Amino acid sequence: MDSPLCKIAIVHLMQFPGSFEGIAVHVLVAGKYLKLNYPNETFMDILNKLQAKGVEDAYVSQADCDKILLGMSTTLNSKSFNDSGTTDEVRLQQTEDVANVAKQFMRSFGVNKEAVDALKVANEKAMVMVKEAPGIHAFLKRFRGKCSEEYLKSCLTNFLVAKVLGKFPWKSQQIIQKTMFAGMLCDVMLLPGDFEEVRRFEHGEAAISDRVRQHASDVSQMLRKKKDLIPMETITIIEQHHERPDGKGFPVGITLSRFNQLSAIFIVSQRYIEKLCDQHFDFTKRHDIIQSLKEVYAGGSFDKAMEALTSVVEE
Ligand SMILES: [Fe+2]
Repeated sequence: MDSPLCKIAIVHLMQFPGSFEGIAVHVLVAGKYLKLNYPNETFMDILNKLQAKGVEDAYVSQADCDKILLGMSTTLNSKSFNDSGTTDEVRLQQTEDVANVAKQFMRSFGVNKEAVDALKVANEKAMVMVKEAPGIHAFLKRFRGKCSEEYLKSCLTNFLVAKVLGKFPWKSQQIIQKTMFAGMLCDVMLLPGDFEEVRRFEHGEAAISDRVRQHASDVSQMLRKKKDLIPMETITIIEQHHERPDGKGFPVGITLSRFNQLSAIFIVSQRYIEKLCDQHFDFTKRHDIIQSLKEVYAGGSFDKAMEALTSVVEE
């Protein structure tokens, strides 16, 4: 049975002081949720105390989590977030905090408007920061170690996706948004340790558990319940994001004719960033990476996707 409360890492909440008045915080003690009573203390005082005791997670109801997401989105849209008093490192960290809480919400309760909006605002702000950097390399140098590697990769994937889509005459802001939305949502069901499992599996180094193998289908199933909030094109990309044209991908093992152009663009962009990360972001390896991608991602819609990716990378 799903928990009626959503687990939120306290460290994410600490970045947003003053936004969560009236939230009921619970902690998990010996398998039971304990509601904290704090009539004379602020939310932040409580969080500070919990952290000092070594407690990492707080638990909140769906309604309170909605309020938290709304408060976080408002902070990202506020004047103080955008003014020069907030360092870029803090700003990027805050966008990751918001994205993480939105994903935790979705894992607990499914998709709703507040979570979707929060994820969109976080991505929008992160994209502004990637674009402000003189290039991907400069962005990496500045922010590596300031947020999780997975978040860094998802920001760079979405940045690259937008650039690659820019090479197609039929592109539009709406199409770019739908594709980037897949980048935000595709791994919602994965937990921090799962990414390494996927990586090792894709390198042929280890087996993959059923839960991790099914993550694309699980996300799709969750999103299909809310088609009013999630475009179908986004869902298709997510379903296919670990598939390969030779049928050796997962979870289904579809073959070339099933991929559409948007999926192909997303997949090659995401694989490129992953391989670049494997090469410790050494851009001198970019030609080798492109070559190795061409060996797997060829034919049908992948030819045009690789052509566009190559021209972006060569710029
Ligand atoms: Fe994935």
